Amino acid sequence: MSRIAYVNGRYLPFREASVHVEDRGYQFADAVYEVCEVSGGLLVDRRRHFERLKRSLGELRIRMPMSEAALGIVLRELVARNRIRYGLVYLQISRGVARRDLAFPQQEVSPTVVATARPLNLARIEAQAKTGIAVFSAPDIRWGRVDIKTVGLLPNALARQSAIDQGGREAWLVDKDGMVTEAASANAWIVTQDGKLLTRHADHAILRGITRAVTIEALKAHGLSLEERGFSLDEAYAAREAFVTSATQTVMPVVRIDGRPVGDGKPGPVAAALRREFHRFAEMS
Ligand code: PDD
Repeated sequence: MSRIAYVNGRYLPFREASVHVEDRGYQFADAVYEVCEVSGGLLVDRRRHFERLKRSLGELRIRMPMSEAALGIVLRELVARNRIRYGLVYLQISRGVARRDLAFPQQEVSPTVVATARPLNLARIEAQAKTGIAVFSAPDIRWGRVDIKTVGLLPNALARQSAIDQGGREAWLVDKDGMVTEAASANAWIVTQDGKLLTRHADHAILRGITRAVTIEALKAHGLSLEERGFSLDEAYAAREAFVTSATQTVMPVVRIDGRPVGDGKPGPVAAALRREFHRFAEMS
């Protein structure tokens, strides 16, 4: 079965799905995106992803190209046409097509809307969660508004590749004060030796992960103690547990940081429990 993508109102076979060479998303990363988990053929936390999408668009003064209801129909149709039971949907909205000029187009143009869907190998992700992943730290060289979910991900890509080159799977980004901001495409968490959960407060230096927000609800419901504050790389090395959260991995244990074992070097009980509980707190639609 061939994959189907959505481009500006049309469902197209992948090889025919393309955007204009002067799309501002392509030229300036003047575009935002969302990635939503699909589980049992349903969208996970669509409402919260759309809330964040509207915020990202608003910060960049790009108009919402259609109603939330219509966008929801597009994503569900894409899941159905690609027959996804478990996987992800990717939605990208750019400011649109205009002659190359940094300033916004004077005449309003239509935003470009692209969406794709693909299956993920759940068994492989579950196996990875059983062993945990290794991360390597990298300097956080991104711009000052990474709370806006733009497609400008080159520093993230470089950090991820550097982690992979060192034998890891993900990068933890560290700011100029030695504080961990987040991972290349996930939020970063530790559990301290006295059992407190730490994740950086949601300012302009991290993306407000939807999985992060749902995990906070889950841990509060279980009476776990949380501090939303930055933590240093040294605190991470000394942690009892570490993990990352993102839509495509939910809660993924981290067992090594820069080659040093976290705790006993195995996935910890807090991460495992939050992973088990996650979908009880997520909304399916
Ligand atoms: N990334 N931080 C960054 C930099 C991210 O790119 C992501 C998500 C997250 C977690 O956000 P959420 O829980 O809403 O997925 C945090 C997506 C999955 C991606 O780029 O593929």
